[in-house]
Amino acid sequence: MAEQCPDPKHEFKELFSSTSRGAHLARVSATQRLAEWGYVTDIAALIVSELAANAATHCLAAHRDFLLRLAVHAHSPALLRIEVSDACGEARPKPRHPTGDAESGRGLLLVGAMAIAWGVGERTPGKTVWAQVLLEPAADLDQGRREPGLT
Ligand SMILES: Nc1ncnc2c1ncn2[C@@H]1O[C@H](COP(=O)(O)OP(=O)(O)O)[C@@H](O)[C@H]1O
Ligand SMILES: [Mg+2]
Repeated sequence: MAEQCPDPKHEFKELFSSTSRGAHLARVSATQRLAEWGYVTDIAALIVSELAANAATHCLAAHRDFLLRLAVHAHSPALLRIEVSDACGEARPKPRHPTGDAESGRGLLLVGAMAIAWGVGERTPGKTVWAQVLLEPAADLDQGRREPGLT
């Protein structure tokens, strides 16, 4: 698994049921935590959403919960590590190559495009799918926010 910095500045861990509702709640919880910590949430929330949906959809293990962990490391800019751990060790994330009109198969492509790195680590039982993103302070967004111009 790629670098796991010790002593995060902020950390959050919670179990969610491996259902579409669990995946939704994971996204909501992640958004709330990141906002409380003072960061822009959009990209991180999208990644949590995709990884949580994958744990709920593709992991059919008997133990039907997945664990979400968020850890913020106080680099400049801050680095967020997102981890979604499920109980399926053999079924692995595998980016697909969807055709233009396919309705699925883009989740990991999106994660790969938005994250600075992502990967899969071993865990007993199961695996941890992780992604790292740089975080922007919410205050910077407020200062830079502009209404769209009229053309
Ligand atoms: N947590 C997971 N456990 C097992 N297989 C997974 C997991 N996440 C992704 N996969 C596999 O990787 C494939 C690609 O995932 P993704 O790009 O999100 O597309 P989609 O979820 O729409 O199929 C999935 O179809 C599945 O086979
Ligand atoms: Mg998916």
